[in-house]
Amino acid sequence: MTLKVFLRDSLLGVKVTLLYSIFRGLDALTRSVLVENEGGEPFYLEKVLSACVDMDDRDFEMLGLFGSWARERHIQRMPLGYGRQNIASVKGESSHQEHPFLALVTPGTSQESGEVYAMNFVYSGNFIAQAEKSQFNSVRMMMGIHPEGFTWKLEPGERFTAPEAVLVYSGQGLGRMTRTFHDLYREHLIRSPYLHEKRPILINNWEATYFDFDEKKLLEIAEDAAALGIEMLVMDDGWFGKRSLDDSSLGDWYVNEEKIKGGLHALVENVKKLGMKFGIWIEPEMISPESELYRRHPDWAIRIPGRDITQSRAQYVLDFSRDEVVDGVYEMIAEVLRSADISYVKWDMNRQLTTLGSCALPPDRQGELSHRYMLGVYRMQERLITDFPHLLLENCSGGGARFDAGMLYYSPQIWCSDDTDAIERLAIQEGTALIYPVSAMGAHVSVCPNHTVGRTTPFETRGDVALLGTFGYELDITKLSEEEKVLVKSQVEKYHKYNDLIREGDYYRLASASENRYYDSWMIVEKDKSRALLFCVQVLAEANAKSRFLRLKGLDPDKRYLAEGKTYAGRTLMHAGLRIPAAFGDFKSRLIEITEASLL
Ligand code: DGJ
Repeated sequence: MTLKVFLRDSLLGVKVTLLYSIFRGLDALTRSVLVENEGGEPFYLEKVLSACVDMDDRDFEMLGLFGSWARERHIQRMPLGYGRQNIASVKGESSHQEHPFLALVTPGTSQESGEVYAMNFVYSGNFIAQAEKSQFNSVRMMMGIHPEGFTWKLEPGERFTAPEAVLVYSGQGLGRMTRTFHDLYREHLIRSPYLHEKRPILINNWEATYFDFDEKKLLEIAEDAAALGIEMLVMDDGWFGKRSLDDSSLGDWYVNEEKIKGGLHALVENVKKLGMKFGIWIEPEMISPESELYRRHPDWAIRIPGRDITQSRAQYVLDFSRDEVVDGVYEMIAEVLRSADISYVKWDMNRQLTTLGSCALPPDRQGELSHRYMLGVYRMQERLITDFPHLLLENCSGGGARFDAGMLYYSPQIWCSDDTDAIERLAIQEGTALIYPVSAMGAHVSVCPNHTVGRTTPFETRGDVALLGTFGYELDITKLSEEEKVLVKSQVEKYHKYNDLIREGDYYRLASASENRYYDSWMIVEKDKSRALLFCVQVLAEANAKSRFLRLKGLDPDKRYLAEGKTYAGRTLMHAGLRIPAAFGDFKSRLIEITEASLL
């Protein structure tokens, strides 16, 4: 249900509509703002935030998500001091570094207790989330499009709609906030037909080959993967134009037949013969200076005429504020998708927006570029999932720079991070799952020493960590030992056994290695509380350690449960805990199934 509050400035002829939507059974509302020019003169909007809440201070602490490439969305809590404190991005994307999420929490708020006022933005571009504590100890919390560099001209009769902000309240700590966000996003935001489906276990060739592959290598990987129960091969960056490194060909969306001999159709058919589906990587928003597209359309890049364009990863950003650019790129990509039976697309975006200027916008509309760019991206994603309704779309941005609620409206899953190290992933996945459903988190098993941090972790731990997500592999499976291949088979079995529960259940955080250094633990509980899965990882072994009693969460106190061959009352597991013996060695993980005893 939506409440609309109408406001009017008769001097300027501005009508502002505040929209508040509520959702049955959820302590959440969404807020957005519609501005209309009802007057006779044009005017310029310079700041349009989407939500604003004023409260008395309660010694609030501020909670946010911060990071960098390969270290996305680490949770940070800090005191709320006087003045303005903000979390923001002006990079043209929701970003690796700061995240469109802000929560104010009462002192000592834990997973189960304390009050939480949280805001999350359904938007993937520039944002600001701000908390301001005033001289009178009142607090104002705001969220919206970042006003830096933003202006929007409204001619008489025109309107501007700000993106929605989601506001969640919890009187029972962060855990309750998390589960409200998860339910809201699963029930009201993610539209994909795959939302409630077990996604095909995929194997992606990026960490296996980087740019150095051909159809023979891909088929070798597919053959070994199919034999172990992996269900889809994803061909990552490097299959198009003349691309053999990251320095060319973005924009030339046709298959490089020197690499993929016999063409895409033949490759896909050969993969299908192995019983596997096929997926492909694209980066539609980008253009390499070294490309046919750039030679044809230099003005399609975002640039300030007369000035140099900054390169990042040897590429420029296409001006997606222009319909002809979006449509031109879309047609090229759609033709590739029509040419073969492609089940999945990974949509990447590997640099931020800089030297902001559009060759098509008039001078007094240049401030509209960043938002128009986002609208162009959303328009193309909408077209893609409409024209190819069976396509499974996964968003990605140099790892996890665009893991946000705006993207979830188009894709049911998003690549979390380029860091596939199981231990770094504990923090990334904890921060991501603070707001976003675990069913959306792209998570893969890769080889060790890990390509990003050089760490070696047990193969089992890598599998258990990736189970809290979409699950897949990111390695050259032909190079695995026989022992590792046996482990792949058992991980595939675990995925089939537990994915329905993990995807649809309630997520509880039991312990965080980011806080305690030594161990990490989460649980997923079936909505009807008949079954649960407990995950524990001992990050660092301790000398002379005793067992730890982990107090479980979310079970029915009155039910009896079977865990590791013994039965317990739900209240015992939740108040006394389940004994987890100390393991020998670092990075050891365990998955424990907990089932209602009467169901056995
Ligand atoms: C960044 C992504 O996160 C990686 O998985 C990979 O697709 C590369 N881009 C390819 O350029």
